[in-house]
Amino acid sequence: MPLPQHVRLVEVGPRDGLQNEAQPISVADKVQLVDELTAAGLSYIEVGSFVSPKWVPQMAGSAEVFAQIQRKAGVTYAALAPNFRGFEDALAAGVTEVAVFAAASEAFSQRNINCSISESLERFVPIMEAARLHGIRVRGYVSCVLGCPYEGQVAPQQVASVANELFAMGCYEVSLGDTIGTGTPGATRTLFDVVAGQIPRGKLAGHFHDTYGQALANIYASLLEGIQVFDSSIAGLGGCPYAKGASGNVATEDVLYMLNGLGIDTGIDMDRLIAAGQRICDVLGRPTGSRVAKVRLAS
Ligand code: HMG
Ligand code: MG
Repeated sequence: MPLPQHVRLVEVGPRDGLQNEAQPISVADKVQLVDELTAAGLSYIEVGSFVSPKWVPQMAGSAEVFAQIQRKAGVTYAALAPNFRGFEDALAAGVTEVAVFAAASEAFSQRNINCSISESLERFVPIMEAARLHGIRVRGYVSCVLGCPYEGQVAPQQVASVANELFAMGCYEVSLGDTIGTGTPGATRTLFDVVAGQIPRGKLAGHFHDTYGQALANIYASLLEGIQVFDSSIAGLGGCPYAKGASGNVATEDVLYMLNGLGIDTGIDMDRLIAAGQRICDVLGRPTGSRVAKVRLAS
C-alpha cells in the first residue's frame, strides 16, 4: 500500500503521559502544556480523563484543566470516560469528544477498570446513546493488542472482536493499544490485517508504547498497512498505572521527525513541539524521552 500523504497525530501526553506521574503537577502546568501543544499545531489533544481519583489520582483535576485551556477552533480536546459518570463529568467540562477504553485481555480489563470485557462494553452502551444525543463523537481504545502484562500473548482475532464491538456500537475510530510495547513490526502488520477484515482501515489508529523500542518501526509497519492516525506522547511521557514497567507512548517529536522525513504532512511545528516537551520535562525534573529533542536541545 502506498504511504499516505497526510497523517493525524493524536497527542495523548497530557493524559497517557501524565496519568502515570506520582508527583503533584499543578493545573496551571497542565494547562500550559495543552496550550503549547495547541500552538505547536496538534489538531487532537487528549487533555485528561474522568476516572475514579482513587484509581488514577493524577487525573483528578481534569475538569479544572478543561476550564482553563485556550481552545483553538478546529482542534479536538478529548477525555477518557470509563463509565456513565465519567461521561457526564466530561460533558460538563466541555470536552469536544470522549474516548471509552476496553481491553483485549480479561486480566487487564479487571486490573484497569475492575470489570470483565463484556461488562465494560455494556457500560459503554448508555455512553454511546447519550453522546449521540449531545452530538459528541466517541473514540474507542482496545488495550493489550500485542501482548498483555498478565496473560502474555493475545490473539489478533480477539482484538478484532473487541474492536468490532466498539465500532459497531458507534465509535467513529478505534485505536489499537500496544500497552506494554512488546509488539514488533511483523506482528503489527498481521494485527491490522486481521482487524481490517472487520473494520475499515480508515477507522483504525495505532497507539504504541515504546517499552521495547519498537514503536517507530511499528508505526512504519502500520503506515504500510494503510493506517493514518497515530497516538503519541510529548517527550515520550507516561505509561499505564495498571501495566507495571510499561514506558510511555512513542515521543511525538520522534514520530514527527520520521513523518517529515517521509514527506508526510501533519501540520505540526517541530520547534514549538520540542519547546513544549522541554518545558514539561523541566516541570517534572526529568530528561526528555524523545531522541530527536535530546539531540536538538544539545546542539
Ligand atoms: P470501581 O471501584 O469498580 O467503581 O472502579 P465503583 O463504581 O465501585 O466506584 C468506586 C469509587 O469511584 C466510588 O467512590 C465512585 O463514586 C468513584 P467512593 O464511593 O468509593 O468514594 N467513581 C468515580 N469517580 C470519578 N469519576 C468516575 C467515577 N466512577 C466511579 N468516572 C472504575 C471502576 C472504572 C471507576 C475505575 O476502575 C477507574 O476509574 N479506572 C480507570 C483506570 C484508568 O484510568 N486507567 C488508565 C487509562 S487506560 C490506558 O492508559 C490505556 C490506553 O492508553 C491504551 C493503551 O495504552 O493500551 C487508553
Ligand atoms: Mg496508553
